[in-house]
Amino acid sequence: MTKNKILKVIAREVLDSRGFPTVEVELTLNHQKRPSDVVVGRAIVPSGASTGEAEALELRDGDKNRYLGKGVLKALQNIQQKIAPAIENKAFTQIAELDRVLMDLDGTPNKSQLGANAILGVSMAFVRACALASDTPSDELIAKIFQTSGNTLPVPLMNIINGGKHADNDLDIQEFMIVPAGFSSFSEALRAGVETFHHLKKLLKDQGLSTSVGDEGGFAPSFHGKNPHEQALEMLIRAITSAGYRPGEQIFLALDSAASEFCEKNENKGSPITYLFEKKSLSAAEMIATYDRWSHQYPLISIEDGLAEQDWAGWKDLTEQLGDRLQLVGDDLFVTNPIFLKKGIETHTANAILIKLNQIGTVTETLETMKLAQESGFQCIVSHRSGETEDTFIADLAVGTNCGQIKAGSASRTDRVAKYNQLLRLEERLGKKAVFPGTKPFLRKKR
Ligand code: PGA
Ligand code: ZN
Repeated sequence: MTKNKILKVIAREVLDSRGFPTVEVELTLNHQKRPSDVVVGRAIVPSGASTGEAEALELRDGDKNRYLGKGVLKALQNIQQKIAPAIENKAFTQIAELDRVLMDLDGTPNKSQLGANAILGVSMAFVRACALASDTPSDELIAKIFQTSGNTLPVPLMNIINGGKHADNDLDIQEFMIVPAGFSSFSEALRAGVETFHHLKKLLKDQGLSTSVGDEGGFAPSFHGKNPHEQALEMLIRAITSAGYRPGEQIFLALDSAASEFCEKNENKGSPITYLFEKKSLSAAEMIATYDRWSHQYPLISIEDGLAEQDWAGWKDLTEQLGDRLQLVGDDLFVTNPIFLKKGIETHTANAILIKLNQIGTVTETLETMKLAQESGFQCIVSHRSGETEDTFIADLAVGTNCGQIKAGSASRTDRVAKYNQLLRLEERLGKKAVFPGTKPFLRKKR
């Protein structure tokens, strides 16, 4: 196996899609066949807003005089003064070897010593650099590491109406997604999703509703009246038909409730968790009943974080009642962490996991979590964060692992569209070998 000697690591503060600082890393290696040439792998770390409590730590400076306290100079310092001296001029055969050194150097379970943003930047940049050093595209290198064929394009879950923490409107639910799964290729599916987005814009405009966009590039209208969430779902159906597609056959619906954000803080520990939903206090059972009703009214196939991350009892009921009909995705619940995923597998809680590199903080641990999920019959959805950049690593990760689904936002904002564009390139390069899974990831075993 080829050893890759790290010649140089540099880090800089750049901006994410919300205009907040984030970490960019550049890592230099020798080219494997032409050792006199060097290659530079670059990666930028994303950042969440509705973060799970157990996510790995994102190190921010807290200096209110710079970027409202959100600077990342401490993370850069950790890369330059602690990580670089430990890895420069050392050779690593594989990303797992490097990530092990980074984890040991940090020494905490949540990467709070060096910061997960510092560690992940180096981890991703090393994968990029190794790909360049061996003239292998990043997705192919990931496929090699993950031991898959790496030829499956993901079904896009496109968040075209934004609410919750990602928008300033009256929607408690954070994401209303369209899922163009009833097509035979990624590019056809993407086209259908994008056309639906444009038709939605027209429908919103015709009704005098706002067409400005939220953090993930979806519209963020304020629906007036009693049932804003049902109005949003209805609007999606109208947009799909208006674009000439068949809801429930070609295009389906998915939600990310991000329910940890609207669960009520209960003073009495041990009392059941309740949810402030549409201005009413609802129990987990009432939330489940709402989802159940919607799943009969609309072609809903997937619900993420339908209940709060601490509500494991509610989650278990949710899975028991709806798990044989719907994909139930744990995002804040699992935070890409194999420990929480194992608990979910053992207790039959949820049946899918959202995968976000910066929730766990290294490429290796991300791949380990994905492997565990796939071996346990859990679906994996590789995901962006609400704070993104031009980095398209997640597109390569989705294809390289054959995971079958990606959440990369709407059809606007270059930080979102960049991922779809990279997937189009990969589809073209794979040619006849490209597989599009269609509705397969959403077919559930009947109990
Ligand atoms: P976040 O949102 O990046 O703000 O956490 C995305 C999600 O909840 O899936
Ligand atoms: Zn989520």
